Amino acid sequence: MDVMVLAGGLSHERDVSMRSGRRVQEELRDAGVKVSLHDVDSSLIPLLRGREDVVVWPMLHGASGEDGSLQGLLELLGVPYVGTRAREARVAWVKSVAKAIFARDGIATPEYVTLPQSLFREVGAEHVIDAIVDRMGLPVVVKPARGGSALGVSLVTERDQLSRALVHCFAYGDTALIEAAVTGTEVAVSILGTGDDAEALPAVEIQAEGAYDYDARYNPGRVEYFVPARLTPDDAATVARTALAVHRNLSLRDLSRVDIILDDQGIAQVIDVNVTPGLTETSLLPQSVEASGRSLTEVYRSIAAAAYDRE
Ligand SMILES: Nc1ncnc2c1ncn2[C@@H]1O[C@H](COP(=O)(O)OP(=O)(O)O)[C@@H](O)[C@H]1O
Ligand SMILES: [Mg+2]
Repeated sequence: MDVMVLAGGLSHERDVSMRSGRRVQEELRDAGVKVSLHDVDSSLIPLLRGREDVVVWPMLHGASGEDGSLQGLLELLGVPYVGTRAREARVAWVKSVAKAIFARDGIATPEYVTLPQSLFREVGAEHVIDAIVDRMGLPVVVKPARGGSALGVSLVTERDQLSRALVHCFAYGDTALIEAAVTGTEVAVSILGTGDDAEALPAVEIQAEGAYDYDARYNPGRVEYFVPARLTPDDAATVARTALAVHRNLSLRDLSRVDIILDDQGIAQVIDVNVTPGLTETSLLPQSVEASGRSLTEVYRSIAAAAYDRE
């Protein structure tokens, strides 16, 4: 088995992708696996063609990496790969679509409305903002309906901050998700495996000083992580069960990360699901693996091997 880690790409998260890709490469190398790192460019398809012994590990963030496009291409080429299939990645990628499925399946998720930039223009932004505030109250969180790494996300506590938050959001995508802000304990639950064999790793609790934004995520110091999260056994079981339900109901494969806020009533509110969780030094999934007592080297080797053996 040769593992080809794909990292880089042209998204806002290129840098994070490269860092994750290099970490995966190092761990697999330590496991004695033959592994190379590639960007997604015109040499990719020629490199993959006619290779029987290769498994691809897509480590691209943002659109085309996480929205199912790259996965669709790999299916077209008949190359085995790590992670969620194209069809299911399409669903997980769009937050408003994933949230509709959570609501259907009885998985708690904050109240929300999804609105494209064009609609604000057509009916008048101020009217829409009035309707949002009247109906949902404040605070709300404004975020791109698609995306990651907290880019374009703002917490809005005052009415007059809302239009600026929307402008910021639309810099990252043409559709905004406006969501009731939940207060409580933020945790990230990483899942390994597929279907009935999937398991939840110990939750990581995230305590950010200020916003848990892009800067806080990738620069050590602004966030304190507690692994495992400081939860009662009941609450730990609730978040694990909720994250597993998300992974299974969305038919995710191999690895994922579900972001949850355990609200003041003890309800696990799902705010985000990631089919390509970050695997950098400060990322959450690697912290959870270590907290579970397993070695990253061994876990990554078995993820690659499971994907290789799948067909
Ligand atoms: N509804 C919400 N209530 C409170 N905080 C939120 C809410 N939605 C997002 N956040 C905060 O913003 C961060 C980024 O939002 P998230 O939906 O996870 O976007 P991304 O896909 O960019 O990771 C979360 O980690 C959390 O700290
Ligand atoms: Mg998130």
